[in-house]
Amino acid sequence: MRRGTSSPSRLRRRNRRLEFLSIEKNEIDLFSPPRAADPEYPTVPMIETINLTKRYGDLVALDSLNLSIEQGDCFGFIGPNGAGKTTTIKILATLLKPSSGQAMIDGLTVGYQNRQIRPLIGYVPDFMGAYEDMVVTEYLEFFSACYNIHGQQRKKVVADVLDLTDLNYKATAEVNSLSRGMQQRLSIARVLLHDPKVLLMDEPASGLDPRARIEIRELLKELKRMGKTIIISSHILPELGELCNVVGIIERGQLLFSGSVQQAMQRARVGNVVHVAVADRTAAAVKVLQAMPGVAKISVVEGQPTPKGLNGSAAHWDGRIIHVHFDAGAKADVTDVPNLLINQGFRILQFTEEAVNLETAFMRLTKGVVQ
Ligand SMILES: Nc1ncnc2c1ncn2[C@@H]1O[C@H](COP(=O)(O)OP(=O)(O)OP(=O)(O)O)[C@@H](O)[C@H]1O
Ligand SMILES: [Mg+2]
Repeated sequence: MRRGTSSPSRLRRRNRRLEFLSIEKNEIDLFSPPRAADPEYPTVPMIETINLTKRYGDLVALDSLNLSIEQGDCFGFIGPNGAGKTTTIKILATLLKPSSGQAMIDGLTVGYQNRQIRPLIGYVPDFMGAYEDMVVTEYLEFFSACYNIHGQQRKKVVADVLDLTDLNYKATAEVNSLSRGMQQRLSIARVLLHDPKVLLMDEPASGLDPRARIEIRELLKELKRMGKTIIISSHILPELGELCNVVGIIERGQLLFSGSVQQAMQRARVGNVVHVAVADRTAAAVKVLQAMPGVAKISVVEGQPTPKGLNGSAAHWDGRIIHVHFDAGAKADVTDVPNLLINQGFRILQFTEEAVNLETAFMRLTKGVVQ
């Protein structure tokens, strides 16, 4: 039988399960079209929530959350403390029941298709439990066994994930003896054992030193290249900006924004900024750039003059760097800046684009500066 077409007895069974889950029956569309597994419907989002709501007594932790995350997306989940990130991730991980609304993974509904969902997901919680007297390999073999991976295949899978997470040299170390960063990597290694399509990561880089954070980020980039769909919650926004193609900003259980990093910038009216230094005639270069379409503001930062250019060229440099701020909505291509200056006979000593400032966008969007 195709998924989505149900016999009366199957519907009754499903309804009983819904009662058990305390989901209001009429909020779930039992006659929705068949999803992911059916090739006729190939465009189902890998992760989707529809009016997802979670109440703890009187507190509404999630308030009609609508998310849609496509296969291969890396979704950065941003929000202040208590916003509802962990609650959302736990529901997607099938560990928490929604009060109402739906959450779907690959077209399967959380709450009554949990058994099919669990092999598809890997959940990295914000805190790793303690595992006394267990060495790293035993720990991974134990979880492999939980996923029904046995014999030679288990040995191979454990070796592979140790390799991927760079934990080979700790294979015989006790789990409790690992540093926080290593434990975090082990946590990621554990969820990769069954090769899930979806990774749900709740602040995997929190409490780590800069080096460990960079290592985790590189590992996540690798997983992204492998085509995994990733949700990652974090407070370290510049890192999310670099890693994620889409972000969602949540506050007090409500989704304030969902879209690409670039769209977040535009909504928060945070434009691109480029830094450019010319060999001489800085004031003339400023005039040229002021006339460029899409430029909102120009400032000149005084630096140390050098007898030579920044890149070792023989040119004198007065040390001044021009900061060109573009309008958020401007269609201008920032790479037109050097072209424009070169065409006017200027010699460029430095040209850099300022890192995407997701932090500013976040502060603006969550403070209600932008509607
Ligand atoms: N088991 C619980 N019982 C009662 N209230 C809870 C429970 N778990 C979470 N909450 C409340 O739900 C809201 C959302 O919490 P959640 O842990 O999802 O936030 P978060 O965005 O993950 O925050 P943080 O950035 O601090 O991790 C908070 O107000 C929290 O106090
Ligand atoms: Mg949390």
